[in-house]
Amino acid sequence: MNTRPHRLETRFLNQELSSPIFNASGPLCVSEDDLEALETSRASMILTKSCTLHPRLGNAIPRYQAVTGGSINSMGLPNLGIKAYLDYSENRDCLNEKPFLLSVAGLSLDENRELLQLAKKSASLSGIELNLSCPNIPGKPQIAYDFESLQDHLEILLSDWPVDAPAIGVKLPPYFDPSHWDTAASILNSCPTIRFVTAINSVGNTLAFASDSVEVAIAPKNGLGGLGGGMIKPIALANVRELRNRLRPDIAVIGCGGVESGRDVLEHLLCGAQAVQVGTAFYSEGTAIFSRLESELLHELMKSSFSSVDDARGKWKPRMGIKATHATQYENEYTNHSLL
Ligand code: DHB
Repeated sequence: MNTRPHRLETRFLNQELSSPIFNASGPLCVSEDDLEALETSRASMILTKSCTLHPRLGNAIPRYQAVTGGSINSMGLPNLGIKAYLDYSENRDCLNEKPFLLSVAGLSLDENRELLQLAKKSASLSGIELNLSCPNIPGKPQIAYDFESLQDHLEILLSDWPVDAPAIGVKLPPYFDPSHWDTAASILNSCPTIRFVTAINSVGNTLAFASDSVEVAIAPKNGLGGLGGGMIKPIALANVRELRNRLRPDIAVIGCGGVESGRDVLEHLLCGAQAVQVGTAFYSEGTAIFSRLESELLHELMKSSFSSVDDARGKWKPRMGIKATHATQYENEYTNHSLL
């Protein structure tokens, strides 16, 4: 019997979800065993590791390191190849009604075209997350940082997306300037077949040192890798809210970045996320994290007097300010101003 309260239920892509919480594409969604562990977990959907046409072993090891406040990785797309994920999806137990989403990350426009050609025919996929923001392939830029390239990809790959194909969405990198949100949103809005965007991928090309060493933490790309975990939450929240404000209402925003607690899930919801993914914290805690986050989110909703996930969505509030005066210049304003 499902004893979880209905307040966590929500909808995505015209399907009921038991909660808004599921895994990010990345850790622990590569192998069949990983996907089976997600089936029996409290994750409300299953998203695969970003796949390529052919299996890949990925970059040199070490390629993942926990760092203070998060993680750095340059995995280099280790995955089983698209066919293995499509086979897995087609052979799933039909009694399990969790939506199954495929992440694809071809290394070229042509590879993405071939990947989507295969994936769009699958009746067992609820959705496809087209990853246009992988930072970890040596020599390959993150497509969605080049707006001409983003537009080309969307026009070429998605313009004739069939209505009966799995829903298609795009995973974006973090943007850091309002002009970038404006441009990205106007390109995405002009693509009628897009159903969701996921914001954000890891903060690409960051650098960490191995502790007490002059060596950098990971081997690929001279130590450059994508940053994830709690420390990127403010970047993720800004991207979720600012994209939500700019995108067509029929494009859902999936929040991803810095989710470690029920409070973090709530903050993504307040910024307008339809559902929320967990990456680094899922890697460190395993599938048990999904039920912990559910309990904590429930507690957070009650504390803030929201009746449901849907009630909390988009309800961020501005902080009231008072006009600066000459006198305030001499006050110490660099203190914690508590919310009264
Ligand atoms: C990898 C990292 C990413 O941030 C991503 O979006 C896809 C793949 C990786 O290194 O495997």
